[in-house]
Formats: sequence, structure tokens, C-alpha cells
Amino acid sequence: MSETLSSRIHDEERQGKAYAPVVEDLRAHRKKFYIESYGCQMNFADSEIVASILNEKGFGATGNYQEADLVLLNTCSIREKAEQTVRHRLQMFRQVKENKPGMLIGVLGCMAERLKGKFLEEEKLVDIVVGPDAYRTLPGLIEEAESGQRAVNVLLSREETYADISPIRLDSNGVTAFVSIMRGCNNMCSFCVVPFTRGRERSRDAASIVRECEDLFKRGYKEVTLLGQNVDSYYYVDEGKDEIVTFARLLEKVALIAPSLRVRFSTSHPKDITDEVLYIMAKYENICKYIHLPVQSGSTRILQLMNRTYTREWYIARVGRIREILPDCGISSDIIAGFCTETEEDHQETLALMQHARYDMSYMFFYSERPGTLAARRYADDVAEDVKKRRLDEIVKLQNSLSLESNRQDIGKIFTVLIEGDSKKSAADWRGRNSQNKVVVFPKEGNLQKGDYAQVKVEDCTGATLIGKVI
Ligand code: SAH
Ligand code: SF4
Ligand code: F3S
Repeated sequence: MSETLSSRIHDEERQGKAYAPVVEDLRAHRKKFYIESYGCQMNFADSEIVASILNEKGFGATGNYQEADLVLLNTCSIREKAEQTVRHRLQMFRQVKENKPGMLIGVLGCMAERLKGKFLEEEKLVDIVVGPDAYRTLPGLIEEAESGQRAVNVLLSREETYADISPIRLDSNGVTAFVSIMRGCNNMCSFCVVPFTRGRERSRDAASIVRECEDLFKRGYKEVTLLGQNVDSYYYVDEGKDEIVTFARLLEKVALIAPSLRVRFSTSHPKDITDEVLYIMAKYENICKYIHLPVQSGSTRILQLMNRTYTREWYIARVGRIREILPDCGISSDIIAGFCTETEEDHQETLALMQHARYDMSYMFFYSERPGTLAARRYADDVAEDVKKRRLDEIVKLQNSLSLESNRQDIGKIFTVLIEGDSKKSAADWRGRNSQNKVVVFPKEGNLQKGDYAQVKVEDCTGATLIGKVI
């Protein structure tokens, strides 16, 4: 089934980043590794931890796989298509390896965890298979693989957070960075493979998170995004200071680093996001007014089957609180079309809810059955493909019109925009984002630089971009 309908880039297509050596990576290296990342931001953040571990081992990053001694794919299992993309990529590397027999190929991430040793049987060319909690063992596994053995470590952990490892920023714009604050997920959404591939939820030492953000700020970064599958359930007991750190408290600690350091976070779960978090957001200018609050479906019956543990009414009430406490807050969502037993009425409820929430943006997907999940074991994947496709198409069309409407309402407004780099279309324009996470493009004027904040008045827009001028 084609997923190209969506107007937004699906997460598995945010992929194939070929990483060039970075400034931090000046040491002379014996060997080179090449890494491609697929899937969510957490996987991209993990690749930066892997880069750090490999750097210690004497490997330098290269953006050209032809010259790599070690090729790594950090993989995603969230939908079948994400896995297919990786398999195709592996076939390509098989050909490269035919001419470079010494080159090692490793599979990391969620697909490694899901398929475990099976990977080595299915994909004969793979030398190393490492799950998300076992990256510290990579150096040993590489040695095993170099001596001709096939190396696997897919042990999940209840403690591993890589808190002490300073990630090496790959392919960075030097302005924005992701910081992992927790790992795993304890929710059991019935469609979702993440609890199986990432294991139990655990929160990272708060002090190490703050240190990492401080360090980024010292090095010129202006925005950090705190990452977790369910950030609202962040909970860390700092025994030394006799302090309980909730997500609201953590947000505050990071916001206090510097007023010119922007703070974002993802993902919020509708069942867990607290008013306390909303009030902290309101209190600090530098906490961006943007919440990614995936609804998945607008039908309470479907939400129950999905085991999301909230109802349509609960979700609507949460959106109400956000609008009340943070009137200028951007809201985005994830939506699944055609989950098991979904009827036309359920689908209409999703469309109506989207309209009610007035999402600025959404990631939209067909339901894709994942082996081993609750839904795969309990419910039949019984919505016909053409129906799924048509419903997704309607969801995408509605979202496009909501996005355009939301952007039109910004015409005439002035926003503080953090400049991230050149616009994709023209080097004569800057590209940045406002607090609400909307992309803003405007002509280069004066002596503004990448990493600066600009005051931009919006004059025009498309569904995906605000277009303005510096004032
Ligand atoms: N922790 C986040 C989501 C992580 S996965 C949350 O709870 O919101 C990102 C998105 O992928 C999900 O929100 C969901 O919309 C989508 N997704 C997950 N499993 C899927 C499946 N089996 N089929 C289709 N989409 C899926
Ligand atoms: Fe998956 Fe649900 Fe956990 Fe998100 S909260 S990662 S959808 S199980
Ligand atoms: Fe994919 Fe794993 Fe993230 S399944 S979406 S890479 S947690």
C-alpha cells in the first residue's frame, strides 16, 4: 500500500542522513564508520550516542559509505513500510560489500530488537545486530565480527539511559539539538511495537540532562528538544539532593539555563499531560508554545481498542485546557486511519475532532499490523486497503486545509524566529521556526546570522510555511 498520500514527511522517510565528519571529531582515526538513521527522533539521538561510543573506539564518521569500514543502519519497526525501506537499503549494501569484503554491516535499533538473531539468518550479509539498550557493547561486538563471528546483543535493560555519554552531534545545524530524557515505554497501545523494541520506561538522571543542555548552550546551540515516548511520565528521584524531579520541574530546570535557549519537548500523551506542565510553559518565554499531542483516533470506541486509556471527551478537555492556559500554543497530532473494526462513523468522528482541535499539523498513517502487538493478537486487521487509503486521503485533505487556515491567521503577526539556516529553495532567504514550531522563511537582510533570533512579520503563507520580512 502506498503511503505517499500524506502531505507530511512520514517519520520513516526522514531518513538516510549521510553523516559527514563533524567539528568535534578532529582526532585522527584508524577506521571510519558510516551511519544511516530511520524512524523517530529518538533513533536519531541514539545514533549520536553510537557515534560517541565509536569515536572512543577510534572510529571517525564519514558521509561516504564507499570509504567506510563499518556501515550501520539504525532502524525502525513502527510500520511495515519502515522495515521494507531498510531491507531495500540492505540489499544495496550487499552489492557494495561484494567489492569490499572487509566492510562490516551492522543493524541497530528497533528492527534489530524485533528480529534479533533472525536477522542473521534472513539477511546473510549482516555481521552485527545490536538492540537499543546494548550500544555500549558495540566495540566488543565489532571485534567479534572482525574475527569472523557474527555478533548479536539485543538485551533490553531496565536501567540503561546512556546518561554519562556525551553524544557527538551528527549532521548538525549547530543551532538545534535533541536531548534524550528517558527511554522505553510502559504504555501498551495495542497497535504499537515500541514497548517490545525499546523495553520498559526509565528516566535519565536529571542533572545529566541539565548538564548536556548547558554544554550545548555553551557551544552556541540555541534550542534543545527534550525527547521521550511519553515525556509527561518523566520521574527522577535525585537521592543526593533529596529531590523528586517531575517533567514540569525538569522543563523549568532546563528553561532556567538561559533565556536565549529555547526548550521544546516531544511526545506528550493526552492521558498524562498535566496542568502543571502547561503553567510552567506559560511562565517561561523560552519554553516553546507548541505541543505534539497525538490523538490517534476521534472515536472513543476505537481509542479503547487501541488501549490509549482516554476518551474523545477527555482529549477535547485537554485541548481546552491548553487553549485556556496557553492561548497562542501550536498543537499537532498523529492520526491512524483504518484501525481494526473502524467504521465510517468512527472515521467521521476523527475528522470532526481534527476540526475541533484545529491542528496546525499532523503526521497521518494507515494502520499497519505489527507482529506480536496486542492488536495483532486480538483483533483482525479488517478494514480493506482501499477503504484505509480513502480515509487517510480524507484525513490528509482536511489537515492540509486546517494547516493553511492556521497559517493564514498568522498573516500580519510578528514572530520571534530562530534562524536555523538557509531556506531550502534559495540561499537568499533564511529559514527558521517560531515558538509554535511553524517554519518561517524570509529574505536575508542586515547582519543576521544562523543561530540569531529575528523579529519577522508574516506577509504570506503556504500550507507548510509562513513567508515574511524582518522588521
Ligand atoms: N509515543 C508516541 C508515538 C510514537 S510512534 C505517542 O504515544 O504518541 C509515532 C506514531 O506512529 C504514533 O503516534 C502512531 O500514530 C503511529 N503508529 C504507531 N504504530 C503504528 C501502526 N502499527 N500503524 C500505523 N501507525 C502507527
Ligand atoms: Fe507506542 Fe503508545 Fe508508547 Fe507511544 S505511548 S510509544 S504509541 S505504546
Ligand atoms: Fe521506530 Fe523505534 Fe522510533 S520503532 S518510531 S525507531 S522507537
